[in-house]
Amino acid sequence: MRELFDTELNVTDAPMSRSALAEAMQRAEVLAPTITDRIDAELIAEAGERLKLIANFGAGFDHIDVAAANARGIIVTNTPGVLTEDTADLTMALILSAGRRLVEGANVIQAGGFAGWAPTAMLGRRVTHKRLGVIGMGRIGQAVARRAKAFGMQIHYHNRKPVSSRIAEELEATYWESLDQMLARMDVISVNCPHTPATYHLLSARRLKLIQSHAILVNTARGEIIDESALADLLASGKIGGAGLDVFEFEPQVNPRLLKLPNAVLLPHMGSATVEGRIDMGEKVIISIKTWMDGHRPPDRVIPSML
Ligand code: 8YV
Repeated sequence: MRELFDTELNVTDAPMSRSALAEAMQRAEVLAPTITDRIDAELIAEAGERLKLIANFGAGFDHIDVAAANARGIIVTNTPGVLTEDTADLTMALILSAGRRLVEGANVIQAGGFAGWAPTAMLGRRVTHKRLGVIGMGRIGQAVARRAKAFGMQIHYHNRKPVSSRIAEELEATYWESLDQMLARMDVISVNCPHTPATYHLLSARRLKLIQSHAILVNTARGEIIDESALADLLASGKIGGAGLDVFEFEPQVNPRLLKLPNAVLLPHMGSATVEGRIDMGEKVIISIKTWMDGHRPPDRVIPSML
């Protein structure tokens, strides 16, 4: 970016303060934020006239008030596609970790508690032949389904609309128009939809209660999609078998009750955290900025109908 543009960088790994962000938005023509920069309507209203492009470093854009930006003639772009496979890999890792108690097992070893093999020690749940319900069958949901199919799982999904017949056939996937009905029948559930006003607490307390008591719930999308407090209650009382969570409702805070549960595998939002992924994301951001600076419509524009 420094080679191509007159660039000011936040070279630390820490988020900028709100006032530093507001100041930057006064000066800059382009802002390249990350998920930890909350670009709300108030910040956008205070932005300088020069600000014309918000090139988000990341696929999710629920931290940006896109409608407010567009209303001021500011284009918003994101980086879809380049973190699909990494996020799907981590989803699969969470399905296996929660099902086969990987973290619990590793902790036994680390605590010096391995006294030898025992017939009933560390019994988990088989994944092969089990039903996986994917909520949100976009790029990442499909990549998860592809992996899960290779593990012998049966693919089910809920989405706003069915996927193309080619993809449905490839994945041998069953479409559920009713999320409630799907939830009640799955052994593993994976959340892969974006967080929008329509998906906030999609897995509400009521819906979480529909999940079978042996089932595992995995979320690598956004914490806000699940009522985290209700999930903690159900996990603690054994009404849901286990959870694998890479994202949390009030990040970076994690519900303290979740921390105490052996059946919850918790990760610090690292779904896309690969060296290759970060480089690809950066390249996408640069392409968006360069295309816009050359006077063309940048690719990967976030359009209001995506909300
Ligand atoms: C990103 C993510 O790394 O892209 C997303 O939507 O959740 C992350 O994995 C993050 O958004 C960076 O801003």
